[in-house]
Amino acid sequence: MHSEIMQLPVLSAQTLTNQASTTLVDNFGRAITYLRLAVTDRCNLRCAYCMPEDMRFLPTKELLTDAEIVRLVEVCAALGIRKVRVTGGEPFVRKGIMGLLREIKQTRGIEDVHITTNGVLTAPHVPEMEKLGIASVNLSMDTFDEKRFFELTRRNEFRAVWGSFEALAASPIPLSVNAVIMDGKNSDDVIAMSEQTKHRNFIMRFIEEMPFNGGTHKVVAPVWTYKKILSALQEAFPSIEALGRHDHAATAELYRIPGYAGQVGIIAGFSRTFCGACNRIRITAKGILKTCLYDNGVLDLKRLLREGASDDAVKEAIIIAVQHRFRDGFEAERHTHSASAAFDSMSEIGG
Ligand code: 5AD
Ligand code: SF4
Repeated sequence: MHSEIMQLPVLSAQTLTNQASTTLVDNFGRAITYLRLAVTDRCNLRCAYCMPEDMRFLPTKELLTDAEIVRLVEVCAALGIRKVRVTGGEPFVRKGIMGLLREIKQTRGIEDVHITTNGVLTAPHVPEMEKLGIASVNLSMDTFDEKRFFELTRRNEFRAVWGSFEALAASPIPLSVNAVIMDGKNSDDVIAMSEQTKHRNFIMRFIEEMPFNGGTHKVVAPVWTYKKILSALQEAFPSIEALGRHDHAATAELYRIPGYAGQVGIIAGFSRTFCGACNRIRITAKGILKTCLYDNGVLDLKRLLREGASDDAVKEAIIIAVQHRFRDGFEAERHTHSASAAFDSMSEIGG
């Protein structure tokens, strides 16, 4: 399940020319300013589209330490990363997560820190998140129905998650709720979940199912494509208006229903309509750099750190990796090999 790290770029002192810059630009001219950072692979839910029931998590020594995470964030900030999304697994199951968030937020150059969470442990932290100035929260919730929540997550945590939803919806921190839409499982929740935006100001986003589920089942192509989701919304809300994307590199197409306080959005995670403007890199829970969600991992940052690499050497390695990016998620997928990324769990990759 956790495929071993693959061909690393060959890095030697000789190849490490002194080209450190303050902007990371890839081989297609795309500026990289956004880091998605998985701080753990552990999770207190077992969503079937993400992991098997008997998911085995990484031993703690395989995870990055706080000091390693902070150092990597500093290095990335020095290269031009301005936005960090802390994700998992479930970030709030990591010990000391609030201290780590504070350190990331205080890193020079980092402007915005966002969090993706499943909401099981989140509510009590909302006041401190506000104080820290967390820029936004993505709450993963695939249904607002208690019974269905149990079927989808295999854990009886609906009430805790609903409590986090309410706490976040009431807080000034911008909130998006993410639902992965699966045919016959929660596809008829699309309209009910959208209705929740009538009186609450949050963005209800629907995501195409992607193949990152730890090998539970094969996702060849989702039935609920972004087109099908949009048709369902248009049918239920004929006056729905397209708003476009929040910014050029955003993955969600946004819509508004006239008179509603919030918005709805669609993320074509499988159809990959947004790769052309991608500004993202990822660091997985075990410290592997991915320059595309669909690649196999391109650089073992944890190994570099633990072998004593200097900050400059780490910077150079990241620059080289970014200069060898795939054009898009389809090209990356074609280059993944054997027990490939397609079978990794999203919990390790970081959503
Ligand atoms: N397909 C689509 N989205 C997924 N997520 C996790 N696994 C998958 C998958 N296989 C989403 C979660 C969460 C984010 C971190 O990634 O629902 O919102
Ligand atoms: Fe946990 Fe998120 Fe994966 Fe669900 S999708 S099992 S909440 S990491």
